[in-house]
Amino acid sequence: MRIMIVGGGGREHALAWKISQSEQVEEIICVPGNPGIAETARCIEIAGGDSPEELASLARENGIDLTLVGPEAPLVNGIVDVFLERGLQILGPEKEAAMLEGSKIWAKDLMQDCGIPTASFSEFSRYAEAVSYLKDCFYPPVIKADGLAAGKGVIVPSSRQEAEEGLKRIMLDREFGDAGDKIVMEEKLEGEEASLLALTDGNEVIMLPPAQDHKPVGEGDTGPNTGGMGSYSPAPILSENMVEQAKEIIFYPLLAELKRRGLKYRGVIYAGLIIKDGSFSVLEFNVRFGDPETQAIIPRLDSDLVPLLRDAAEGKLKDSTLEWKKDASVCVVLSSRGYPGAYEKGKEITGLNTLKSWPNLAVFHAGTKRDNGKILTAGGRVLGITAWNPDLRKAINHVYRAAEQVYFEGCHYRRDIAYRAL
Ligand code: AMP
Ligand code: GLY
Repeated sequence: MRIMIVGGGGREHALAWKISQSEQVEEIICVPGNPGIAETARCIEIAGGDSPEELASLARENGIDLTLVGPEAPLVNGIVDVFLERGLQILGPEKEAAMLEGSKIWAKDLMQDCGIPTASFSEFSRYAEAVSYLKDCFYPPVIKADGLAAGKGVIVPSSRQEAEEGLKRIMLDREFGDAGDKIVMEEKLEGEEASLLALTDGNEVIMLPPAQDHKPVGEGDTGPNTGGMGSYSPAPILSENMVEQAKEIIFYPLLAELKRRGLKYRGVIYAGLIIKDGSFSVLEFNVRFGDPETQAIIPRLDSDLVPLLRDAAEGKLKDSTLEWKKDASVCVVLSSRGYPGAYEKGKEITGLNTLKSWPNLAVFHAGTKRDNGKILTAGGRVLGITAWNPDLRKAINHVYRAAEQVYFEGCHYRRDIAYRAL
């Protein structure tokens, strides 16, 4: 098979790394990819970035049998519809079903329609109404821009004043542009978060082991939110029993509702959960693999991923299974000085070669570029280092020893990834 991966971050590197180990795969192309991915795939940059039409033409020219999409934007822009119209195999929801991630209001309405547990909410398109609602709230609610905001559109205020400022930032200052034309205010839930991903062919779901990511930049979950400073899997807060329960309470009702609405969805469904006293609520759905969760989950997979991806795309997941290692995995993200604010770029990264021979370890590139034989930083999140071991504590020690081998000016990372699971 010839596989195309859209994207160029740590998640896409983890997928390319795993897929390249499959005997069924002849070639992987990755658009745009990155220098780490280039070690296992052919990376192609195209003009027009992630335009669905350009990507479909590229898939056709390269005889691609199956396309995987890392980031949400091409999915929300309808890449699946364009590929399917042209007879090209692709994993992901069709455009309207991608609203599950593309619109918080659409997702909340759907959850309400099919009884998926989620925080109670109200939606607003007028600032004055939102402000007046806030005045009568007993506790400050969580405020969410309706549309895509690169993971930054959620404000969890700790005071009424912060909530008012948040409303102003989204609705008046338009910090997230059109994504903030509408907003959701929802009840703030307490509990521990976990990410639960499933592969679906529209009827069946194959659950991936639960993971947890660390969004705030600072140790002890302090400071501003990032795209994710690290992750680990499994997440002990979700027992196997609860994963089974989540299938019945979340994933099957979701698929039934999508079908009732006539929407096609073959691909990955990501549920962001909050768990308290053994019961859970859905904070959000994503329509793709999570990042950095995927960097922790994928190295734990023993089976070949490719047949499952193909089965999902062909609607044949019924008797498919995946085998997982007993190991726990930990992914630590090394980031650039300044991140998640304005950050530095172009710093030389050294020490990567040393790690190539380390067992039970993978270094995934997220924001890097190659320049004159050197690898330079090129993003806020630069590298994801994942280690795995049957003993979580050993995996943690291993990953931090590895992180110490890598150097670039301004490099920072959290030193408490996965401690919650000990
Ligand atoms: P989301 O993009 O919807 O996952 O929101 C980003 C982050 O905001 C989540 O990972 C939570 O930490 C937090 N969050 C979102 N919704 C709520 C809620 N209803 N209650 C408490 N925290 C929330
Ligand atoms: N780790 C959160 C996300 O992928 O959206």
